[in-house]
Amino acid sequence: MNIDDVKIIGVCGAGTMGAGIAQQASINGFTVKVMDVDDAAWDRGLAIITGGLDRMLAKEKITQAQKDEVLGRISYSTDVTSLADVDYVIEAVFEDYEVKKALFEKLEGVCRPEVVFATNTSSISITEIAAATGRPANVVGMHFFNPVPVMKLVEIIPALQTLPEAAALATAVTERLDRVPVPCKDTPGFVVNRILIPMMIDAARVFESGVASAEDIDTAMKLGANLPMGPLELMDFTGVDIAYNVGNVLFEYTREARFSPPTIMRKMVKAGHLGRKTGKGFYDYTQKT
Ligand SMILES: NC(=O)c1ccc[n+]([C@@H]2O[C@H](COP(=O)([O-])OP(=O)(O)OC[C@H]3O[C@@H](n4cnc5c(N)ncnc54)[C@H](O)[C@@H]3O)[C@@H](O)[C@H]2O)c1
Repeated sequence: MNIDDVKIIGVCGAGTMGAGIAQQASINGFTVKVMDVDDAAWDRGLAIITGGLDRMLAKEKITQAQKDEVLGRISYSTDVTSLADVDYVIEAVFEDYEVKKALFEKLEGVCRPEVVFATNTSSISITEIAAATGRPANVVGMHFFNPVPVMKLVEIIPALQTLPEAAALATAVTERLDRVPVPCKDTPGFVVNRILIPMMIDAARVFESGVASAEDIDTAMKLGANLPMGPLELMDFTGVDIAYNVGNVLFEYTREARFSPPTIMRKMVKAGHLGRKTGKGFYDYTQKT
C-alpha cells in the first residue's frame, strides 16, 4: 500500500498513548477511528485530546474552527468491526502479549489483508507479536513517546518477518504525522529504553546506596551531563512502576544485570510511591501545587 492510499487510521486503545496518537493523526489530516473496550477509557482519552487541543488554542497554534475540525475527524467505538474500512492500524492497548494477540486475531477478520498493523509496544518483541498474527509480513513496531503531540521521535522496528514495504509505509506514516522516524532492529528496549531504563535504574541504585540525595543526583545529572531532567525526576514523571516493569521485562529477555531494578524500586512500587501520579515517588508532590 502507498502512503497516499492511507486516509483512515484505526487506533486501538484510547489510553494515554492511543489518545495522543489519535490527536496527532487528526491534526495532520487523517480520519481517525478509535476503538477501546471500555467506554470510560474513551471519556479519559477524549479529555486528553480536548485538553491538548485547548492548550494549542490558548497558544494560538490552532483556531477554534481547526479544533472543531480535528475533533470532527475522530470517531470512537467499542466494536472492532468499526475498523473494517481503515487503511492502517496503530495498536496501543495494554502492554500484555495475550491482550495484543487476541486483538490482532479479531482485527485480521475485519481489516483488508494489505492493511499494515503497527504496534506501539515498549517491551514485547515485535517478531513475537508478528508471529502471533496471520499477516506477519505486515506487522511493524511503531514506538511513540509520551506525550505524543510533544515528543517527536517514533522508533520504527521491523520484525524478522516484516516486508520492507511495510516498514517503509510505517516510516512514511510517521513523517505524515509530523514525527521523526528512527529505524532500529527488534531488540529488547529498542534504542531509547535500552539506554534510558538502565540509566534510571542506576540512578535509583546510587540513591539507594546513599551516595547523594535525590535532589543532588538530579542536579548533578542536569548540570554535569546537560540533561533537561534528572533521572529520578524523570522516573517520577513517567511512573516508577513503568521503569520497574520495563526493567524487569528487559532483564527477563537479556539476563543483563543493568536492566534489573534494585530493591528500592520494588519497595516503592509495592508502597504505591509511583511518582507524580500518586503524589509521592523520589519526591513528595502532595505539598506542591
Ligand atoms: N505510556 C507510555 O509512556 C508509553 C510509551 C510508549 C509506548 N507505550 C505502549 O503503548 C501501549 C499503551 O500504553 P498506555 O500507556 O496508553 O496504556 P493505557 O493503560 O493508558 O491505555 C491502554 C488502553 O487500552 C485499552 N484496551 C485494553 N484492551 C483492549 C482491547 N482488546 N481492545 C481495545 N482497547 C483495549 C484499555 O481500555 C486502555 O484504555 C502499551 O503497549 C505501552 O507499552 C506506552
